[in-house]
Order: sequence, then structure tokens, then C-alpha cells
Amino acid sequence: MNVDLTESLKIRQLSAEEEIPYHLLLLADPSQKLIDDYLLSGEVYVASLEEAIVGAYVLTPLNDDEIEIKNIAVETEYQNKGLGSILLDDATLKAKEKSFKILIIGTADSSLGQLYLYQKQGFEISGIKKDFFIENYEEPIYENGVLCRHMIVLTKHL
Ligand code: COA
Repeated sequence: MNVDLTESLKIRQLSAEEEIPYHLLLLADPSQKLIDDYLLSGEVYVASLEEAIVGAYVLTPLNDDEIEIKNIAVETEYQNKGLGSILLDDATLKAKEKSFKILIIGTADSSLGQLYLYQKQGFEISGIKKDFFIENYEEPIYENGVLCRHMIVLTKHL
């Protein structure tokens, strides 16, 4: 982990007047339509180094108890430096502050790195949405040479 980078990171909620950082959100989710759907009821948080936005996540409540990280992304050149872990910690804190009991994050069956990361961050695999990526995306998505088919749902009790 790069200590300087993580110490300089500032996370804040995006205000209604600011532009949505689609270039980041599209790194995590290639469907602009799905992104726009969950943004309707979600809050966008952005992480900046100096003035540049280098990461983002979207928190969307599902019901009174559960809230989901619908999207999380770090600018490609800043990945694997510990910033994603900080965003996950921040999302956990925000969810707790809002009195939710369960934090959810979903990822693809092919997203091996993300599955490692989320479990290291205290999430536990709790379900599978069969054929989610086949049914909700127009184009097939390949990752690590594997067709992205099912969504793996992970949860963290707060
Ligand atoms: N193989 C194995 N592990 C991987 C990996 C890979 N390809 N990619 C990430 N990881 C894991 C490692 O376990 C690593 O842990 P380590 O530091 O102990 O080695 C950890 O992820 C990296 O953690 P960190 O540096 O805190 O995360 P990050 O800043 O790279 O952010 C993402 C993580 C997922 C947000 C970032 O990679 C990203 O934006 N990816 C593209 C968008 C995306 O896939 N979003 C999630 C959709 S579910």
C-alpha cells in the first residue's frame, strides 16, 4: 500500500450540481442504463487526490435494513494501491451512520480479484443471482477469459 496516496485521499458525496463521473462508473459496470437506474435512488461518493477525482462508489438503499454498493471503481492507474479498500471502509462507515444493518455488494462470477478483495474486507458470500449478466447486458462480458454469467452477492453485517 502506498501510504502517501491513501493519506491524501479525500472522500465526499457528489453534489447535485456536479457531473456524474461516468468514466469511472463505467469501469465497474458497462451498462449506462443500469447505472442511471441505480443512480435514481443512490448517492454517489467520490474520492479525490488533490483536485482530481480518482475513485467513486454508489450507495443505494434497498429497504430499511439493507443498503448496497451498486458501483465502486478506482481510476486504472491508481488501482492496487489500497484506494479501493479505503472506499469499501468508507462505504461501511456511511452505511453504519445511516443505521443500516446489512451492506451488500455484488460482483461477477468471473471477477476473481474483486471476490478476494471483498472477502478480505469482511464481506461473506451469501447468494447468487443466476444468469444476471446474461439477462441484463446486451453484449456478453468476458473477464480473465471467462464469460461473466452469474452475480455473486456478498454481505457484511454492520
Ligand atoms: N487478482 C487477484 N487479486 C486482485 C486482483 C486480481 N486481478 N485485482 C484486485 N485484487 C485484490 C487483491 O486481493 C488486492 O489485495 P492486496 O492488496 O492484498 O494484494 C486488492 O484486490 C486490491 O485492493 P485495493 O488496492 O485496495 O483496491 P483497488 O484500489 O485496486 O480497487 C477496485 C479495487 C475493484 C475498485 C478496482 O480494481 C477497480 O476499479 N476495478 C475496475 C472496476 C471494478 O471492477 N469494480 C468492481 C465491480 S464489482
